[in-house]
Amino acid sequence: MVTPLISMLGITKKFPGVIANNKIDLELYPGEVHALLGENGSGKSTLMSILTGLYQPTEGKILVDGKETQFSSPADAISSGIGMVHQHFKLIESFTVAENIALSDTHGSFKLDMAQLEADIEELSSYYGLKIDPHAFVWQLGVGEKQRVEILRMLYHKSRVLILDEPTAVLTPQETRELFANLRKMADNGCAVVFISHKLNEVEELADRITVLRGGVVSGRMEKSEINRGALIQMMVGRELNTNYPHKPAGSGDVVLKLEKISALGDMHTLALDNVSFEIRAGEIYGIAGVSGNGQRELAEVIAGMRLSMGGKMYYRGQDFTNKPPRAKIEAGISYVPEDRLGTGLAPNLNSVENIILKEYNGRFAEGWRIKWQAAVSAAKHIVEEFDIKQGSIYQPVKMMSGGNIQKLLLGREIAAKPQLMVVLYPVRGLDIGAIEAVHKLLLKLKEENTAILLVSEELEELAALADRVGVMFAGKLMDEFAVQDMDIEKIGALMAGVTDNGGEGK
Ligand SMILES: Nc1ncnc2c1ncn2[C@@H]1O[C@H](COP(=O)(O)OP(=O)(O)OP(=O)(O)O)[C@@H](O)[C@H]1O
Ligand SMILES: [Mg+2]
Repeated sequence: MVTPLISMLGITKKFPGVIANNKIDLELYPGEVHALLGENGSGKSTLMSILTGLYQPTEGKILVDGKETQFSSPADAISSGIGMVHQHFKLIESFTVAENIALSDTHGSFKLDMAQLEADIEELSSYYGLKIDPHAFVWQLGVGEKQRVEILRMLYHKSRVLILDEPTAVLTPQETRELFANLRKMADNGCAVVFISHKLNEVEELADRITVLRGGVVSGRMEKSEINRGALIQMMVGRELNTNYPHKPAGSGDVVLKLEKISALGDMHTLALDNVSFEIRAGEIYGIAGVSGNGQRELAEVIAGMRLSMGGKMYYRGQDFTNKPPRAKIEAGISYVPEDRLGTGLAPNLNSVENIILKEYNGRFAEGWRIKWQAAVSAAKHIVEEFDIKQGSIYQPVKMMSGGNIQKLLLGREIAAKPQLMVVLYPVRGLDIGAIEAVHKLLLKLKEENTAILLVSEELEELAALADRVGVMFAGKLMDEFAVQDMDIEKIGALMAGVTDNGGEGK
């Protein structure tokens, strides 16, 4: 019999107010891709953080190659060959790619040979097709690129156990294909790969074995040959799902947002938005389809006031709002749910109540200089209840919450502010299937309450289910626009790749 590379036995982890893991057993074998599934807050990241030495278990033990081993720090785990790409990346923004990879260097030598390091990185990145410039600063990278740095770091340390916490949440379909091929290659080389995902189709495609967590305990296990979607959903959420939303047509409300030939630069000072024009009416969901990194973030930032446009006009409810500061836009009822939830979205070290106050400069929770704590606390409790947010307490720093619950808090805060215009980027990234259903229903409810919604998504199915009209972005241009009933998946796919009938000129 093959000895497991890793045996986790009876692992329990208690945090104040929560038992994140409760007597969990998990074995990882060389050559397997092992999927870890479960609702937001079910304990997946915690379990893997224990395996990587970031947390100490309250109870239980870990065997590596059959021998009991204790990790008192991530460096211990790395030297036992265990590497992890975290859900929220752990990179230093002001360092370069190469410096970040070197930072966790456990190869033993103190003197760093930068040229050698860069050569190693380039070799690894070309072997695995993970393109990256070792000299680039991390702050200049998009989320997909940051993930590549994390994967390279793990490969650079020759990890035998590779843990990826929701890696595809930030990837394009093409990048996901490449990642899957790489993960399979790593498993074939004798590694154990742990793959955390909420996307069942991915799990079905990639996993050799599946372990499902629910409320901190193992709720089921499955082998590849027995995979069955209905049974998996039942193990995950304990009920069936209803994802057939009634599609009510948009009313003919007033135009809330009108963009006229908006152009803007990206972080690298190249043209990120190129003459983008469209409008959204009250009670309408306008979807933006496209592979991420084609100007969607910059578009949202220009609308929210966090990026200056260099050309064109933005009108909001008939008034010229071009380049007004974020605060004026928030006060006028414009809400923004950004891509990086723990940077621009929420302040990681503050708790839920403080994060809710933070957003409203002088609305419900302040009277002059006085903060109305009671009102803020009850608003926080209300959001937690409505969105079924799982956390130890509303007084814990939000960075301690699970990834999906962080997203629910951010969305909940924005929706509770009853915006007139809501800009949402990838709202269901990282959410479990039950939570996706809840968020979709909330967006439809907002639409019914007459909010104009700009929904940026990579999932055409999501756009088809929610949007009234869909625009396709490629290389900073709005390529074309369709009413949702005229949406032709093939045509949109081609536009997303920049292929048009008129030679890529856009709308
Ligand atoms: N450092 C911490 N301090 C306190 N509570 C924590 C901490 N880390 C996690 N928790 C809590 O433990 C529970 C499990 O969280 P965990 O992050 O493991 O969930 P998850 O399965 O990874 O969820 P998701 O799919 O949303 O990422 C949650 O209730 C979370 O709030
Ligand atoms: Mg997690």
